[in-house]
Amino acid sequence: MCGITGFIGAGQALPFLMQGLAKLEYRGYDSAGITLVDEHGLYTCKTKGRLSELEALLRDVRCPQNCGIGHTRWATHGVPSQLNSHPHSNMKNTISLVHNGIIENYAVLKQELLAKGYQFTSETDTEIVVHLLDEHYYRDRLPMFEALLKTVHQLQGSFALCIVCTDEPDRIYVAKKESPMVLGRCESGTMCASDAPALLEYTKEILPLNDGEAAILKADSLEVYDFEGNPVPENWISFPYDVQSAQKGGYDSFMMKEIHEQPSVIRETLRGRFRGEMIYMQEIDRLHLDERDIRRIYYVACGTAYHACIYAVTQLSRYARCAVNAMPASEFRYGSPYLDEHTLCVFVSQSGETADTIAALKLAKSHHAVTTAVVNVLGSSMTRLADAVLYTCAGPEISVASTKAYTTQLVLLACLNVELADVMDWEMPGRREMIRDLQILPEAVEEVMGYESTMEQLSKLLKDQRDAYFIGRQLDYPSALEGALKLKEVSYVHADAYYAGELKHGPIALIEKDSVVVAMATQPEVAAKTVSNIEETIARGAQVILITTKDMPAEKFEHVLRLPNLCPDLAPITGAVLLQMFAYFTAELKGCDIDKPRNLAKSVTVE
Ligand code: G6P
Repeated sequence: MCGITGFIGAGQALPFLMQGLAKLEYRGYDSAGITLVDEHGLYTCKTKGRLSELEALLRDVRCPQNCGIGHTRWATHGVPSQLNSHPHSNMKNTISLVHNGIIENYAVLKQELLAKGYQFTSETDTEIVVHLLDEHYYRDRLPMFEALLKTVHQLQGSFALCIVCTDEPDRIYVAKKESPMVLGRCESGTMCASDAPALLEYTKEILPLNDGEAAILKADSLEVYDFEGNPVPENWISFPYDVQSAQKGGYDSFMMKEIHEQPSVIRETLRGRFRGEMIYMQEIDRLHLDERDIRRIYYVACGTAYHACIYAVTQLSRYARCAVNAMPASEFRYGSPYLDEHTLCVFVSQSGETADTIAALKLAKSHHAVTTAVVNVLGSSMTRLADAVLYTCAGPEISVASTKAYTTQLVLLACLNVELADVMDWEMPGRREMIRDLQILPEAVEEVMGYESTMEQLSKLLKDQRDAYFIGRQLDYPSALEGALKLKEVSYVHADAYYAGELKHGPIALIEKDSVVVAMATQPEVAAKTVSNIEETIARGAQVILITTKDMPAEKFEHVLRLPNLCPDLAPITGAVLLQMFAYFTAELKGCDIDKPRNLAKSVTVE
């Protein structure tokens, strides 16, 4: 997982490259580098560590070049080090490239190149690509673009590549397969990057490259071809975000900024979805689900998005008249799930680029299942693969720990479930209340923001604790899972989630004096049972935080947070905000790097 930038234009390339890498650091931040090119040759500067270290190295260097490429790395092959950092150059130091993805057949290719006399300076899979280009350009005497096309046909795996060479300092070559790449142009030049926020300060007109496409970028033009060298039509997208929305906007961290954006992004996600008592979802009309005799439904995703799937399935399985399952994409893709034209698969992803979820989507398509993607990033890979796409309108999510993407996923999946009930003619209990309360949900989420200082106080319960336990039943269970995941991700406090009824079958053995238990009790038919479960933990000395509804009798508990009155199916959305704040303040208390937790990356584009 890495971030790539490239610029060719009238002015200096370096400012674009550096600001773009800063916006892409969420994709990886263990090393960074740039190559600039002009008629005098290549100038490469790279280092292990964060972008600030590269900036320090470049502070006193004069960089007038108009063309260059940049990279921020998240190691997959070879430890983070100066030598393994990108860009990588050929032995003559005339061709330089950056790469995002994994070249699966690099070991075989490396042996062949070694036999031909190529020497390697890094442990990366990427370095073989620059030597292959060298071979085709210098030894086979192909023009550089043809050398690139010949090279991409030899590569297995995933790649987004940006290449510069000293013979042609007026252009950048780009190629894409299964790793993201977007192009843009403005008055000052033409550019490319792994993700749109890197471009937004310069342009809002974005061209996402498709898999199997390559491009030639020049100062005042760009050309897009397929891997056979045929020109392909350009589908430009106008991006609705401004650059401010990709920055912190006054908050200490992206995570807190994104927590606070939830009322507005939920409102955006719901915009235009209500027609009287109906949910309006014309995106899925094209699937003709009513004519397809749907016999099973899978919700598939990774990480936080997988918890959104468990929410959707818990809700839908109460009234669906077919089999409904939630599966992590990494299991789905290898588990031989039953897939045919009577299967509907819903893939949920913030980025639309997660490797396991893409593979699961491709598997479903290959078995003729009907596919829908619930995605946040416009034009991302999943949106181009699925039969239908529903967008969560969360805007760019920069914090590695997902917050607003999660709650907008819950909102959109709740709407999708209503729509499925209508299309399939299933009777859905509480349908009318759900549609009514969805319309006041943004205000309810705003109301729970008022608990911010309470959550800050409560996080102190974890000050000297190494563990925390989250419990809930029914729709409170995915909330427990997500609350525990959030806490682990940002504060490194070990946290587990259990069905509240399972507590007595093992986990209660871990409860001792001052253990922290977070109990979700928002579902009327089971809330009282969860409350009895917490009494069992209090009897063993636990400190309990109870998140419940306004009418639940809970006076005897010390730490009770009451969610706004909404239909129970929507309580996990307001409840999620409290759990996010709890994780945030615990991480702050422990001095953690909240937006960039150790060992985690925002977008996992490798298996
Ligand atoms: C990574 C992120 C998680 C995210 C998961 C799935 O692990 O750190 O926050 O939930 O990927 O990402 P997606 O973009 O598919 O939702």
